[in-house]
Amino acid sequence: MSAFSLKRTLRRARVRRGPNGAEIVRLHDDLDGLLSIEESAFLYRTARGKQTIVEIGSYRGKSCVLLAKGEPNATITAIDPHYGQGDRGEVVYDPEDTRRMNDALSRHGVADRVMHIVKESHDARPDWDTMHDGDNPKAIDLLWIDGDHSYEGVAIDLDDWSDLVRVGGIVAGHDYGHLESVRRAWDERIGASDKWGPTQRVRSIAWAERLR
Ligand SMILES: C[S@@+](CC[C@H](N)C(=O)[O-])C[C@H]1O[C@@H](n2cnc3c(N)ncnc32)[C@H](O)[C@@H]1O
Repeated sequence: MSAFSLKRTLRRARVRRGPNGAEIVRLHDDLDGLLSIEESAFLYRTARGKQTIVEIGSYRGKSCVLLAKGEPNATITAIDPHYGQGDRGEVVYDPEDTRRMNDALSRHGVADRVMHIVKESHDARPDWDTMHDGDNPKAIDLLWIDGDHSYEGVAIDLDDWSDLVRVGGIVAGHDYGHLESVRRAWDERIGASDKWGPTQRVRSIAWAERLR
């Protein structure tokens, strides 16, 4: 066995030994997406006890299913315009991602708890107020951001959505470990704010708890 596959086996075994480990590994292997095994475990286990979850960037539903399976009473609002590339390289809606996401949600029996908003996160933000009470928008227990990874994209998502997270709730974002654009936007808005606890890491995910 190569050093790489030995490491991979050990990492999977570590997740498997933790709470709901066998189910997490099974879901991780079944679903199409870009999460590491520890990141899949983080999402599943962090969802526990969180009723109101917002996901920005769903792709084919991997993180969405993990969040929904982590808390059987959760409702997930999944926001993704499902962008793909057109024939001339332009950004267009790609129905194949929607089809694959719907298939993943149905196969895992969570479709009735997921509301997919097929829009960019900034355009979906007013929908949140309309869907709930406009004067007193519903608080979010867990906000998971994995959409537009540019500096501006992450900054807009944090500016638009993070204030909705309740005290004691969690904000988490993917690719903090890989992308300077994500790190800069996160550190300026979450790392430097006394509303949020210290930034913690699970591989490329950054997360923090709302303190006040
Ligand atoms: C890396 S994928 C998400 C992967 C998914 N979270 C998972 O773990 O399986 C990024 C997704 O973000 C979506 N996206 C890009 N810009 C967005 C935006 N402004 N708002 C919401 N989603 C966006 C893309 O369509 C793409 O499906």
